[in-house]
Amino acid sequence: MPDPQPLRVLHVASEVAPFAKTGGLGDVCGALPKALRRRGIDVRVVVPLYAGMDWESLERLDGTIEVPMWWGPARAAVRLGHLPGSDVPVYFLEFHRYYDRPYIYGRPGDGYEDNLERFTFLSRGALELAKALHLAPDVIHAHDWQTALVPVYVNTVEWARPLHGAATVFTIHNLAHQGVTDGGAMFVTGLGQHHYNPGEFEHFGSLNVMKAALHHSTLLSTVSPTYAREIQSAAHGCGLDGILRSRHRDLHGILNGIDVEEWNPATDRHLPAHFSAASLEGKAACKAALQAEAGLPVNPKVPLFGVVGRLTPQKGLDILAHCMERVLSWDVQVVLLGAGDREAEHFFGSLSDRRRDRFRAWIGFSEPRAHRIEAGADFFIMPSRFEPCGLNQLYSLRYGTLPIVRATGGLVDTVEGYREASGEGTGFLFSDLTPDALANTLGWAASTWYDRPGHVDAMRRRAMAQDFSWARAAEAYERLYLEAYRRRRGHAFAGPPGGATPAPGARAG
Ligand code: ADP
Ligand code: GLC
Repeated sequence: MPDPQPLRVLHVASEVAPFAKTGGLGDVCGALPKALRRRGIDVRVVVPLYAGMDWESLERLDGTIEVPMWWGPARAAVRLGHLPGSDVPVYFLEFHRYYDRPYIYGRPGDGYEDNLERFTFLSRGALELAKALHLAPDVIHAHDWQTALVPVYVNTVEWARPLHGAATVFTIHNLAHQGVTDGGAMFVTGLGQHHYNPGEFEHFGSLNVMKAALHHSTLLSTVSPTYAREIQSAAHGCGLDGILRSRHRDLHGILNGIDVEEWNPATDRHLPAHFSAASLEGKAACKAALQAEAGLPVNPKVPLFGVVGRLTPQKGLDILAHCMERVLSWDVQVVLLGAGDREAEHFFGSLSDRRRDRFRAWIGFSEPRAHRIEAGADFFIMPSRFEPCGLNQLYSLRYGTLPIVRATGGLVDTVEGYREASGEGTGFLFSDLTPDALANTLGWAASTWYDRPGHVDAMRRRAMAQDFSWARAAEAYERLYLEAYRRRRGHAFAGPPGGATPAPGARAG
């Protein structure tokens, strides 16, 4: 008897770190496949070949694939690389008309007008590639609206073709972006107009590709248990709570992990000094270096607050903007790294020019600086309006930088609130999305720093001892894949790994 085949999983995503990243989606799609690989799964990834990637280092595969587009067949070359430190293949679809541009989605705030077409190409192209390479995936895992057409194509154009047997898993990383466009654009998907109905693509008079994925996918997931519950409510459902409620048995909340090699304070190549929970001197050196880099007074006694993130309404930094004057009247320092909405960039940029004594903003995207802020700051501010999971608070915990977060989504699932009486906790939580509530919590953190340094020290060590590695999440995804396989095929997966198929973890509501 030949050895049984391992489970074959194909990921399709618009971002995969370190090749392409605008936020946490890239981090997840760069790290989760490696963790799945360590479990013995045959995992592969498909992503577009964007401008600015190191094309020369990628192997160009022979031949081309033909992707049916509304205007005719698009011939795409394919390049092959691997996720660093692994043997996980990454296939890059090369089609310059769609991807040779300065941004992945367009300038933050205004996406490219043909994004539906660009990501239709990715979704359809990934399936054409799978067929061309005879990959025969058992499960195809699509991420966010950009690849929402994948489960739809598997059920429609692949009907009675080899890929039809593949189960589909669709992960919501951010429900606020659903790929909504004019109903007249249905032709771009290449699917018949009859799919433009309220059960699939039509949503309040617009075309909504995420809605169609929620309908067509074998199983659904999102990136934390709390967000999985929240999005079934009108308040957080962004108009799709009805369909999410109707599929609540198929919707799973699996908390993201972090890449503990990339984000390791003991070895991080971006840091001027290294540290661990057992020896924190290096953290003091990182703080001093960050203060110097920011042009702030180098003083170990002043608490230093850090912020890193996309400057979009999601992150709630407008609330921070509204209490910055108050916060900067205290003996504290704040550093911020971010890019996004022009108004926010302008506000923090000019405040930084005026308040060089206590505040420094860097407008832009810089991976090394994000690491230096996580390491050098004492506290990390994340007042998100909503947060499906959030990775920055996880990096903060690992770097002993106490997160100050709004009690929403994955932030609730990962940060344990400080209890002043006992000194327990790993960070600070607040609920009201108001400048007063945030300022009060920042003030509470500052007074804890000055008045109860023993508590800060204990919380820091507790935070650093948390385990958010991908191993746990990968195990939960494997269970999800096996369940999706069983649903699609009507029988359990026979080969390794998996063996017994326990119920998938963390079911929502
Ligand atoms: P989201 O995906 O909503 O942006 P996450 O917290 O999940 O939020 O992930 C954000 C990721 O993007 C983190 O790795 C963070 O360090 C990174 N990031 C965001 N903005 C910047 C920036 N301006 N420079 C460098 N890294 C950034
Ligand atoms: C999204 C969410 C963020 C999450 C990330 C990765 O961008 O905004 O909360 O951590 O996806 O899943």
